[in-house]
Amino acid sequence: MAEIVIVPTAADAGALVADEIVRLVSARPDAVLGLATGSTPLPVYEALRPRLAGVDVSRVRGFALDEYVGIDPQHPESYRSVITREVVEPLGLNPDLIQTPNGALATIEHAGEDYEAAIAAAGGVDLQILGIGTSGHIGFNEPGSSFASRTRVKTLIEQTRADNARFFDSVDDVPMHCITQGLGTILAARHLFLLAFGEGKARAIAGAVEGPVTSSLPGSAIQLHEHVTVVVDEAAASQLRNADYYRYAYANKPAWQGL
Ligand code: PGA
Repeated sequence: MAEIVIVPTAADAGALVADEIVRLVSARPDAVLGLATGSTPLPVYEALRPRLAGVDVSRVRGFALDEYVGIDPQHPESYRSVITREVVEPLGLNPDLIQTPNGALATIEHAGEDYEAAIAAAGGVDLQILGIGTSGHIGFNEPGSSFASRTRVKTLIEQTRADNARFFDSVDDVPMHCITQGLGTILAARHLFLLAFGEGKARAIAGAVEGPVTSSLPGSAIQLHEHVTVVVDEAAASQLRNADYYRYAYANKPAWQGL
């Protein structure tokens, strides 16, 4: 099963994941990171900044999970812009080695295949950072997404558009379509870190970790992966039935195991 780590604050979660990324990049300077957007991964990127000072990141490669379809890549809320602003620039990564799915309408029909080919050419993702939507989505794989799915165009559910309206002038400005790594793509990454903070994520986390494996809650796909670390704060952990066991298991974890 996934390892569940319950931490006091989002900053603690950021530190934990950032430490693991630094270990990875130090051991493998051309590591392939799976990057997420949204509010959830921000503490990881913040914690990485001081930790990566002095680490050679010039060869680090990265793939974002998703992008809006039809959005101008220069739009401040395109995920290309978000990744550039929140990850590439502050961490000093080489922008040429960091990719986002191409949401341009002119090439959208083969953009999914192109992205899959790029990930495969990089040798796959070593460490994937994931948030979870209130709908239970990971990436933009909304309920009903196939566990075998690969990068493709999806239609956002209204709840997700409402959740993301805070980044736009109004909900009407949130694009309706996205291109997202599939659940099959995400499951092919070697180590998944699923993060969630706050009461609003408690139901989705409980479903992903303890609920039935079902495409109705796409985050439950993590139960099929052999190396998953779920890092949540107390509020996001509040609906986990076995929280006491997870705390006990983590507190008594053999040091040699690592994450
Ligand atoms: P959030 O989004 O991190 O902004 O809450 C998570 C997601 O939709 O996957």
